[in-house]
Amino acid sequence: MLKLKLATDPRWANIAEKSLGEILTDHAYCEQKAATSGINMINFCPWHPRLVSEMAALVAEEWGHFRKVLKELEKRNLPLGHKRKDEYVIQLLKLKFGGGNRSNNTCENLLINAMIEARSCERFRVLSLNMEDKYFREFYHEFMISEAGHYAMYIDLAKDFMPEKYVNERWEEILEGEAKILAGLELRGDRVH
Ligand SMILES: [Fe+2]
Ligand SMILES: [Fe+2]
Repeated sequence: MLKLKLATDPRWANIAEKSLGEILTDHAYCEQKAATSGINMINFCPWHPRLVSEMAALVAEEWGHFRKVLKELEKRNLPLGHKRKDEYVIQLLKLKFGGGNRSNNTCENLLINAMIEARSCERFRVLSLNMEDKYFREFYHEFMISEAGHYAMYIDLAKDFMPEKYVNERWEEILEGEAKILAGLELRGDRVH
């Protein structure tokens, strides 16, 4: 369904499991950033009722995710810790076309968000299938389902701004670009991306 061009090595789940506190911290910030980008989309496009409504729901859901991850840290008496530099997202943002009109720019923002949701969904799937702890397999399964819904919503919303054919072609380009970015990044047990 996600049609990603590069699959994550399933052994990553076992590396991540060994640094659970760190992966939870990174995950918590991913959820926080997802909520923030929903708020930014509302500020960017307040004249579009469907976008505002979809983003309002998304922000609430992502904030709920943030709180769920935070609870896991609290259970283990772990502090949230500092936000790390997100090299994946920094490089992904460079794939955006600049200088288009507002519709074009909104479409770019929506597709980059869709990309982050799609990759997060894939990573959560790898965790949900390969972690040894059953509790966390179920924990990540729920996140996987939710991020898959966000990915589909972002792609669909992009079609409100640009023609479907354009969105599909542009999505293909972003998928190609993302695979190249990921191939150049180290697969770390303490990062979601
Ligand atoms: Fe989320
Ligand atoms: Fe999400």
